Amino acid sequence: MSATQRIRKAVIPAAGLGTRFLPATKAMPKEMLPVVDEPAIQYVVAEASRAGLDDILMITGQNKRSMEDHFDRAPVLEATLRDKGDTKKLEAIQHATNLGDLHYVRQGQALGLGHAVLCGKQHVGNEPFAVLLGDDLIDPRDELLTTMMEAQARLGGSVIAVMEVPQEAVSAYGVVDAGGKHLEPGAQVVPVHRLVEKPPAEEAPSNLAIIGRYVLHPAIFTELERTPPGKGGEIQLTDALQAMAAIPAEDGGGVHAVIFRGRRYDTGDKLSYIKAVVTLAAGREDLGPELRPWLKEFAQSI
Ligand code: G1P
Repeated sequence: MSATQRIRKAVIPAAGLGTRFLPATKAMPKEMLPVVDEPAIQYVVAEASRAGLDDILMITGQNKRSMEDHFDRAPVLEATLRDKGDTKKLEAIQHATNLGDLHYVRQGQALGLGHAVLCGKQHVGNEPFAVLLGDDLIDPRDELLTTMMEAQARLGGSVIAVMEVPQEAVSAYGVVDAGGKHLEPGAQVVPVHRLVEKPPAEEAPSNLAIIGRYVLHPAIFTELERTPPGKGGEIQLTDALQAMAAIPAEDGGGVHAVIFRGRRYDTGDKLSYIKAVVTLAAGREDLGPELRPWLKEFAQSI
């Protein structure tokens, strides 16, 4: 394996129970919740596909069949739409099936994000790969993964994406020490010295939060195998990356962070999910022109 080989594979962990969205997620995976008119997971698969990742492995759990159906062909529905001459909707449903070569593996037990990524070991093999978390939506107009993949090809090791968040929000994230509290203005790629999963705000090494995009060296799998349960009793990807930061570069070690300054939406909890839907709908050509003035009026009325 060479450190600079083209990255083709993406791993998308999608085995969470979605308890924050109950009862909506009682019989349906949270990844299928619509963000405007596409399930949240489709934004993530489309992002991977745009970055040239055409081999996508979903790590799933129970209740996930609808996700497989969503990315599969639907011959009866397609025929009905074709008969009606509704080419727009036909293209829309076919689009989801053309995003790449999708594979599925089940996590079995919900032992944490690190464990979910480890479930991809067999499929990924000995090559660098991307990990995309479904709760983080990156605005399709902004670019992140390609920059991360270029950084990984140039620097080797692993590359994560971070974003500045308000200090009081850091305890919801993995947080990195990238050489001091303050970033150089305009810095884009920085070496990471330390990573801590969800630290209390007063102990956080910075306000640079890990957002759910990673380009990982395959040596992460060996590291994950020996990572003990961490925060919340779960095997944390952040902890394995902390160990990777201390490993020599020739063994696949070293971690860099790409600083993302674009638009990211969090669909992980109810309030931020609602904000994501409204923000994305307001920016759409088909819905925005009517939604924006209505939103202004509504805001004044409350
Ligand atoms: C996971 C990671 C965390 C990261 C976050 C980004 O946490 O463990 O390091 O900051 O995703 O969304 P989760 O939100 O799944 O608890």
